[in-house]
Amino acid sequence: MGNLIEIRDLAKVYARGKQKVEVLHHIDLNIAEGDFLALMGPSGSGKTTLLNLIGGLDTPTAGTISVGGQRIDQLGAGPLAKWRAANVGFVFQFYNLMPMLSAQRNVELPLLLTKLSSAQRKQNAAIALKLVGLDERASHKPSELSGGQQQRVAIARAIVSDPTLLVCDEPTGDLDRQSAEDVLGLLRTLNREHGKTIVMVTHDPKAAEYANHTLHLDKGTLVEQALA
Ligand SMILES: Nc1ncnc2c1ncn2[C@@H]1O[C@H](COP(=O)(O)OP(=O)(O)OP(=O)(O)O)[C@@H](O)[C@H]1O
Ligand SMILES: [Mg+2]
Repeated sequence: MGNLIEIRDLAKVYARGKQKVEVLHHIDLNIAEGDFLALMGPSGSGKTTLLNLIGGLDTPTAGTISVGGQRIDQLGAGPLAKWRAANVGFVFQFYNLMPMLSAQRNVELPLLLTKLSSAQRKQNAAIALKLVGLDERASHKPSELSGGQQQRVAIARAIVSDPTLLVCDEPTGDLDRQSAEDVLGLLRTLNREHGKTIVMVTHDPKAAEYANHTLHLDKGTLVEQALA
């Protein structure tokens, strides 16, 4: 299979007053369609920054990013948001669910940006909740769910619009071992059986084992191996 993502000579520099912080430099990376990639590296090495660029949450200072043959590095905020809504699902360490809404309503949220009817939104959200094994918890609010269950609701929300790409930033960082394995098993199923391409940042070597392979960032560049 071909590359879903092609990154060339990518750089990200944050300007803070007169000080420039070069967070990523000379990143060259291909990610094959259907891959499950783990991204590791020390705190502050630029993992979240790179993930956010891949998912179109941020734009680079220099270099190019194509996803599915489309350049996203030059898109303005509006077109980029549209592109994200159609192509990317996000999973974060702290779930980012809306506390006042039921699991069902949380999963429906991304569909408010689409043309689907309210009945279709409900149905698609119910399908996604079933896929993550939480159809019986659909009416629960986040505070009425365990951490692992909340993360599975967040995964249902990430997949409800059927995106090609899932980007996950330390999705098991706040979970106990068993819940982490449930979430990782679910990501593996989404990769193997539903064809999702996954890029996952993690600090946990056991989590990285669920991926097909692992890349390491160090001080803003990709390195062959983790430095001991
Ligand atoms: N908005 C910003 N302005 C200035 N510097 C930033 C900004 N966001 C991130 N940085 C800097 O960029 C560097 C990389 O941050 P990033 O969040 O990508 O690291 P990380 O590898 O995800 O770390 P962690 O494992 O702790 O999550 C850090 O030195 C950070 O201080
Ligand atoms: Mg981070």
